[in-house]
Amino acid sequence: MKTLTTDLARRLQGSPYQGYAYAYPHKSAYRALEGRPLEEVWAAEARDALFLYIHVPFCEFRCGFCNLFTQHNPHGSLIEAYLETLTRETAQVQAALRAGGEPRFARFAIGGGTPTQLDLAGLTRLFDLAEQLGASPLEVPVSIEMSPDTIDPEKLALLRERGVDRASMGVQSFLEDESRAAGRPQKTAQVEQAIEWIQAAGFPIMNLDLIYGLPSQTSETWETSLARLIDYAPAEVFLYPLYVRPLTGLGRRDGCDEAPDDPRLNLYRQGRDRLLGAGYEQISMRLFRRPEAGLAEAPAYRCQEDGMVGLGCGARSYTKSLHYSGEYAVGARGVREILSRWVSQTDEELSRVAFGFELDAVEQRRRYAIQSLLHSDGLSYSGYRDRFGSDVLSDLPALSELGPRGLAVEQEAGLHLTPEGIERSDVLGPWLFSTQVLELMEAGVGIFPQVPDAQCRRGW
Ligand SMILES: C[S@@+](CC[C@H](N)C(=O)[O-])C[C@H]1O[C@@H](n2cnc3c(N)ncnc32)[C@H](O)[C@@H]1O
Ligand code: SF4
Repeated sequence: MKTLTTDLARRLQGSPYQGYAYAYPHKSAYRALEGRPLEEVWAAEARDALFLYIHVPFCEFRCGFCNLFTQHNPHGSLIEAYLETLTRETAQVQAALRAGGEPRFARFAIGGGTPTQLDLAGLTRLFDLAEQLGASPLEVPVSIEMSPDTIDPEKLALLRERGVDRASMGVQSFLEDESRAAGRPQKTAQVEQAIEWIQAAGFPIMNLDLIYGLPSQTSETWETSLARLIDYAPAEVFLYPLYVRPLTGLGRRDGCDEAPDDPRLNLYRQGRDRLLGAGYEQISMRLFRRPEAGLAEAPAYRCQEDGMVGLGCGARSYTKSLHYSGEYAVGARGVREILSRWVSQTDEELSRVAFGFELDAVEQRRRYAIQSLLHSDGLSYSGYRDRFGSDVLSDLPALSELGPRGLAVEQEAGLHLTPEGIERSDVLGPWLFSTQVLELMEAGVGIFPQVPDAQCRRGW
């Protein structure tokens, strides 16, 4: 095993950017399952505060840095076949959920790719499907991802009308040259126009994404992007460190080896300090939020505890003990093949889970600990005990290494990362992955050639 290490000291000597633990286990640890019926998978699951996620794997173009599962410039016939399959999948999921009692949803998100690549009629169908499933978009918080070149006032008005509260858009950089060099040919004037349209449409929450560590980016150009972003005062901001992965445009062009003078940590600190100085709160290494931005009226959804129902080819679904999804690819051919298989599925195939990861009691605990620790709320000892009936420091004794290294402190009967710990989130996440998951991720590279190379030091 080349990269497999659970040794914190060794990991801390390496890059701060070893892997993004936005979900545990990572999709590359998923494997083919025996085709379990959805009804059986959801049978024992609480269904009073579910998250509905619809995935739209289409974009206008494929950005050079992006390894998300998405098809650029899709044909109208593919989009139609996708929406038709989504409709059939919704019917299967609805029947499976209802078999165990009426489901109640607390959140709805449409992600991608770029959902606003769909036209008005396509978007309308997504909201109709959510309603059919019982995730009433006018009653629960709704979030949607968009890109600057796929929105206009008419689309935004439709989204507001159908109940979207959070509009999230990728900016990446306010500098045209920088964006182009990263393989995202966008005009800054168009980005600014798009932000103004979002503001005019009156979404309660606007989120904007920036990336640091882009080719040719300097601390001065980063400052330009940060200042422009802060001028627009978005309620939420994601600052992403650039990860260069195999099979992406940048990975093919530049390779994905570590640069000897990796600028990302300094750029991270610059971005963090700038946002904290502008009054934002840090929620995690990547997420910053204005204190007044909130979803106070929303029904409670606890991402650690409540299930996620994913619809669409690239969507993940989570029950307590099973995470599952469709297959995954990054390269254009792999994406095309998977999409074409997905839209030709029979109803019977859509009613079964074929690819995923079973979380035993130990993995469920580990997941809870990782996700809590990497969030500003921290890992509450009593929250863990109430949920699992055991002591997190006995279950994961490695956590006690964090305090002496200055990476975490005990506060309010829980463990909270310090600023030094937060900036090492992409070391601490993978460090806490189980050996089983690390081995599956590594082996996954051979089994699924389309899965991004988990060994690539800059892969997530
Ligand atoms: C689904 S996209 C956002 C919406 C829309 N597709 C767009 O690009 O404007 C998710 C975000 O992930 C981030 N991202 C994607 N690939 C990345 C990478 N390789 N390194 C860092 N951030 C990345 C980008 O900031 C991007 O905005
Ligand atoms: S960054 Fe956004 S627009 Fe670009 S390819 Fe990825 S999902 Fe599509």
